[in-house]
Amino acid sequence: METELKQKRTLESICARADHPGNDPYGSHVMPIYQTSAFTFKNAEEGRRFFAHEESSATHSYSRLGNPTVEKAEQIIADMEGLDIEEKTEGMLFGSGMAAITTGIMAIASGKKILAQETLYGCTSQFLQENAPQFNIEVININPNDLNSLEVALKQYDDISLVYLESIANPTMRVCDLERITELAHAAGAFVMVDNTFATPYHMRPLKWGADIVAHSTTKYINGHGTIIGGALVARKGFFEHSNMKTYRKNFGGIAGPFDAWLTLMGLKTFPLRMKQHNINGKKVAEFLFRHPKIHRIWYTGSAIHPDAEIIKKQMINGCGGMISFELDGGLDAGIELMNRLKFASLAVSLGTVDTLIQHPATMTHAVMKKEIRESAGITDGLVRMSVGIESAEDIIADLKQALD
Ligand SMILES: Cc1ncc(COP(=O)(O)O)c(C=O)c1O
Repeated sequence: METELKQKRTLESICARADHPGNDPYGSHVMPIYQTSAFTFKNAEEGRRFFAHEESSATHSYSRLGNPTVEKAEQIIADMEGLDIEEKTEGMLFGSGMAAITTGIMAIASGKKILAQETLYGCTSQFLQENAPQFNIEVININPNDLNSLEVALKQYDDISLVYLESIANPTMRVCDLERITELAHAAGAFVMVDNTFATPYHMRPLKWGADIVAHSTTKYINGHGTIIGGALVARKGFFEHSNMKTYRKNFGGIAGPFDAWLTLMGLKTFPLRMKQHNINGKKVAEFLFRHPKIHRIWYTGSAIHPDAEIIKKQMINGCGGMISFELDGGLDAGIELMNRLKFASLAVSLGTVDTLIQHPATMTHAVMKKEIRESAGITDGLVRMSVGIESAEDIIADLKQALD
C-alpha cells in the first residue's frame, strides 16, 4: 500500500503535505517541533539496548544524533530529489549548506583525491583549495564542460574518489552533462556529488542522471523565506550507511536544529508554486535585460545562446528558474552603481527567497576566492547576480529600468 502511494506522488502533493506528521499521538495536523536536546528512556535496559543497536522501543536518544522534526524534513527532501528514480532515497539535514557539503566530502574523500569543478560557490571553493588539503584530500580542478579533459584526469589519476559539481554553477550558470560525467566517473570507480541548490528538484534531479549524492543549501529555495541557514544531503537508501555519513555528522555535530527543520517544512508547503513564479519572473526579467543597451553579457539558463543550451534542454524541467547573472558596460563601477540605485530589490548575498535579491560576487559571495581563480572561472569584477523573486515582475523590471537609465 505504502509503495503504491509513493509511486503515484507528485512534487506538488509531497510538498503541500510536507508537514503532515503521520501518526501523532495527539492527532496534530502539523508536524510538532520536537524542541528537545534529549529523549528519555523508560529504563536503563532500554537505553543500553538503544546504544548497543539492539532491538529497543526507544527511537531517539539525543538531538545531535536524530530528531523527529528533523527526520520529517529529511524524508521530504529525499522524496523530492528521488521522484524520477525507482530506488528509495534518504536525506540528512544539516545546520548549513556548508556543513552538508563539507561533511559529505570528508566522509567520502578523506585521504583521497577529488576532481572538483573550477567554478563553485565561494566557500566551497575555499574549503577545497585551503582546508581540504589539510585533511589530506588532494583537489584537482576540472572544467566539467570539457569532457575530454575530465576523461584525461580520470585516467591520469586512477584513484579519484569523488567528482564534485554544481548542477547550475554559482554564479556563471554553466550546466554540465551529468549523465556523461557520471558514466565516466563510475567507470573510474569515483562517486559523483552534485550541489543542486540553484536548480532544486523543481528544475533538475541529479539522481536521475546517475549522481550518487545531492547536496543543498536549504537556506535558499527549499526554505524560500530567508528564515534559516540549513543544508541537506540526499542519496539512494543504503549509501549513507555504506559511507558512514551519520557517524561523520554525529561527530562533526552539524545536524540542523528542530525549529529550523520545521521552518524548512513550512517553506516546502508552497515550494512548487513559488518555483513556478520564480521561473515566470526570471524569464521576463531576462528578456528585459537582453533588450537593454547597457547590459553587455547575461548568464541565464533560459537563454537561447547559453553555451550549454543543449544540455539544459535535456536535463532541466519546468523552465529555467530565476537566477540571472549579468555584466554591465562599465564593469565594476557600473555594477556597484546599479546595486546602489536599486530601490525595490534588496542588496543581500542570499538567493532563492520570495523577494528579489541582488549581489556582487567578486566583492561578496566569491570574495574568498583568489582573484586569478575567480577570473579564470568567469567571475569578472563587473558581474552582478540577481535572484529574481515572486513579486510582480513589472515592479522588478521597473526598478532595474530606473537604476540602469
Ligand atoms: C550553490 C551554493 N552551495 C552552497 C552554499 C552554502 O550554503 P549555506 O550558506 O547554507 O552554508 C551556497 C550559499 O550561498 C550556495 O550558493
